[in-house]
Amino acid sequence: MSKITIAIDGFSSTGKSTVAKQIAKHLGYVYVDSGAMYRAITLYAIREGIISKANFDEKALVAHLTKIDVSFTFNSHLGYGEVYLNGINVEQDIRTLEVSGFVSKVAAISQVRSKLVAIQKQLGIHKGVVMDGRDIGTVVFPKAELKLFMIASAEKRASRRFKELIDRGDKITYDAVLKNVTERDYIDTHREDSPLVKAADAIEIDNSEMSIQEQLDHILGLIDVVLGKLHET
Ligand code: DC
Repeated sequence: MSKITIAIDGFSSTGKSTVAKQIAKHLGYVYVDSGAMYRAITLYAIREGIISKANFDEKALVAHLTKIDVSFTFNSHLGYGEVYLNGINVEQDIRTLEVSGFVSKVAAISQVRSKLVAIQKQLGIHKGVVMDGRDIGTVVFPKAELKLFMIASAEKRASRRFKELIDRGDKITYDAVLKNVTERDYIDTHREDSPLVKAADAIEIDNSEMSIQEQLDHILGLIDVVLGKLHET
């Protein structure tokens, strides 16, 4: 059975990773969370004192890039790859609001993007991959057989993210999460290099009022159509 590439782009906290993991599991594909890679570099920059509320030394971060190794190691218990920064699992450490607060600025640096895009292209070289992010259908896999573009209202996204952070024990307010979501939307869509845009051939999915199961069923239907067409040719 031929394998395809599935690119999932969209705004922050639109549930891209949830559905991407479900699809990957269903099809036996590899799931890659490209945002985790930008987060890992951001974590490195915070830990090295390159980025803080008072200071963002972009030049220093670019100079450090050759010393930063970002990779994934499959966790059979979870069923997907966890992100490693210089050989250490940082899957949990990258999910804080502190990292979220800086990551869009780091992701706007062209040198950071070209380093990570090269790794991402390599990860998808054999197809059979579901990757989520902001530029997957436009830059990383412009020839992906299926491109999805996820949207939902900022309030809906903030309340989902707020619940996630509270459930894992973070002390945070809904307003702070909403502010972060809207700030990231702005930076992600206005940066010069590879801004978040819907690819011309992407299918838009507004999941504001969809359950996770409804969304999965809808997407699996789209995948069946793509695979069906592929087998006809
Ligand atoms: O998907 P996420 O929220 O974990 O992504 C974190 C940030 O990384 C997001 O604000 C934008 C950036 N990003 C990007 O620019 N390109 C990608 N392919 C993935 C994420």
